[in-house]
Amino acid sequence: MEIIVYVLYSIGNNFKINHYYKINIPKKIGEGTYGYVYSINKDLVIKIFKNYSELYENDETNLLPKKNENREVKFFIDLLNSKYKNNHHLININAIGIIKYINGNNLKLVNNYCLILPKCNSVTNLINLWKMPLINNKDGKEIVLNFMKRLIEIELFLNKNFNITNLDIKLNNYMIQKSKKLNIDNILAIDFGLVIQNNNIKYDFKKYYIWPCGQDINIKYVSPYSICINALILFLGENKVKNNDNIYNLNYLKKDKDFYNIFNQSLSLKLNCENLQKLIHEYMKKNKFKH
Ligand SMILES: Nc1ncnc2c1ncn2[C@@H]1O[C@H](COP(=O)(O)OP(=O)(O)O)[C@@H](O)[C@H]1O
Ligand SMILES: [Mg+2]
Repeated sequence: MEIIVYVLYSIGNNFKINHYYKINIPKKIGEGTYGYVYSINKDLVIKIFKNYSELYENDETNLLPKKNENREVKFFIDLLNSKYKNNHHLININAIGIIKYINGNNLKLVNNYCLILPKCNSVTNLINLWKMPLINNKDGKEIVLNFMKRLIEIELFLNKNFNITNLDIKLNNYMIQKSKKLNIDNILAIDFGLVIQNNNIKYDFKKYYIWPCGQDINIKYVSPYSICINALILFLGENKVKNNDNIYNLNYLKKDKDFYNIFNQSLSLKLNCENLQKLIHEYMKKNKFKH
């Protein structure tokens, strides 16, 4: 398949602003709710949004974006205009563009936004280096807490510098750039489609495995909840987490009161990100874990 992209924003010399680029994209390598991801070459991918989007005139207090709202492109423009564009928490975007032509495909993608991004490895490649689930691994607690610590650092980076919360904290929205070693400190957030401005509005959350289910929930308690669900997936296995309720799963942790407490308090919506970070730090120090 061949596309022509008009570049609107760019960070390097590879893609120049206001230039057109003809790009061959033979292979789709990923797909989510909002986009298709194609390989460009060994170093780069392009994420093409499925829907046409208007960047402004959106009510930013909604929990979920409307069909033509694109929170991710908006976020990347803010990032590129900020002093944080070189950071070690988020994927290093190369360019933002618009699809101007597409052939060999009947998808209606002309005039949709696209992102040119460095090619990454899945977090699964890192996880496959460990004996899983982590409950059966002698270093399991140390690994899972370091993993949580990394996700918290990324979330705090977004909270503090952009005043946003990521509501889509799940493993396939984190990756490691191909050029980097497979380790926890190289994990980056790659998907910003479901970010929301931090505010004091309370929201009703529907049933979704990474979200607390209930009414009038303050956004600040949601990311610690999601981070713990992802950690439990690593610790107990995906089947247990998706098929049992939290109270049942927490029983597996009860032998270690402090460890249990970290999860119990987050899942009971008692901790914001900073509180969770502090609890993990204290636990690691007390148990002499590497961190
Ligand atoms: N930079 C990348 N390198 C390699 N694969 C990627 C990259 N970005 C995304 N993918 C793959 O495509 C999938 C969908 O991308 P994502 O940004 O999460 O889209 P969506 O917003 O639609 O969920 C990811 O889960 C991943 O498997
Ligand atoms: Mg995704």
